[in-house]
Amino acid sequence: MLAAVTELHHGEQTLLGLNLASARRYPDFVAELTEATGHDVGYRACGTLAVALDSDDRAHLRELHALQQRSGLTPQWLNGRECRRLEPMLAPGVRGGLRVDDDHQVDPRRLAAALVVACEQAGVTFTRAWARELSVARERATGVVLADGTALAAGQTVLAGGSLSGRLAGVPADVLPPVRPVKGQVLRLTVPERYAPFLHRTVRAVVRGSHVYLVPRVSGELVVGATSEELGWDTTVTAGGVYELLRDAHELVPGITELPLTETRAGLRPASPDNAPLLGPTALPGLHLATGHYRNGVLLTPVTGDVMAHTLATGELPEVARAFTPARFTNLPHPPCATAPPSPASPKDLTELSA
Ligand code: GLY
Repeated sequence: MLAAVTELHHGEQTLLGLNLASARRYPDFVAELTEATGHDVGYRACGTLAVALDSDDRAHLRELHALQQRSGLTPQWLNGRECRRLEPMLAPGVRGGLRVDDDHQVDPRRLAAALVVACEQAGVTFTRAWARELSVARERATGVVLADGTALAAGQTVLAGGSLSGRLAGVPADVLPPVRPVKGQVLRLTVPERYAPFLHRTVRAVVRGSHVYLVPRVSGELVVGATSEELGWDTTVTAGGVYELLRDAHELVPGITELPLTETRAGLRPASPDNAPLLGPTALPGLHLATGHYRNGVLLTPVTGDVMAHTLATGELPEVARAFTPARFTNLPHPPCATAPPSPASPKDLTELSA
């Protein structure tokens, strides 16, 4: 989902500015990508409904509403009946909710596939292999050495390695991004034709302190996510994770138990100490970062592309990204991680979370 407004948290108003800047770019970004590739990336300007099931949830949602209003946003408070009028499949016990007309959705798998095609059409060459280490000569990044020993030379190198960004050998310690993996388990269900439209927009809630969301795709897929677990690079789908997601989603929308469960998956969010991305040049000339996007990687795709293109072409971070310079973390100790990162033999096991 593209959840700039519904995933707003205290202390993240600066990040909100970047998230909104990226959300505003989405319609043109998608139009350009679709025109270039002919791919439908599943962008759906459908809005989001965040609901509360009990009085604790309602208090939490009221607090979020107040924070959104203080931040200049204009979601609308609805009572339970109004929520169910918008989404008849909601549980009768829903006590109220926030209608957010600006939080939309895109299909991240389709988006990634279209971006690869657009890049290839524009002349980009992909080398799909593990980067073993950064090459540094005369205190400047000069490319990477791959797992098989092949050296790739580059005038400028962008380290965009998701949750593994802090683990590339050869990067000086004071330049390594303080990024850690935060696991998210996600389910995919299928809405049979006879139940469509099951939901009209993204529906989400905080149930017993856990976030749960249901994203209905035009294709009939219903994505249910996501857990948030600090377990290092573990990407095991667990019975407990699946149970909690289904239990919470069922409390919101009881009818989901009728739907076929078609996929279970776990991915890793690349989290930084302030939950915001690290964008732009580092203290090592020739090395840039585009990482740490945490819960907003898909949302931040267009603005990250624009920021990195500008930075690589001019050497300057544009105004919209100044607050996200990697320099803000210089001298921070590297975060400890519970487990060792995966070995180069298992690259397929490591996936970013993309709901
Ligand atoms: N933004 C969705 C997630 O992080 O689960």
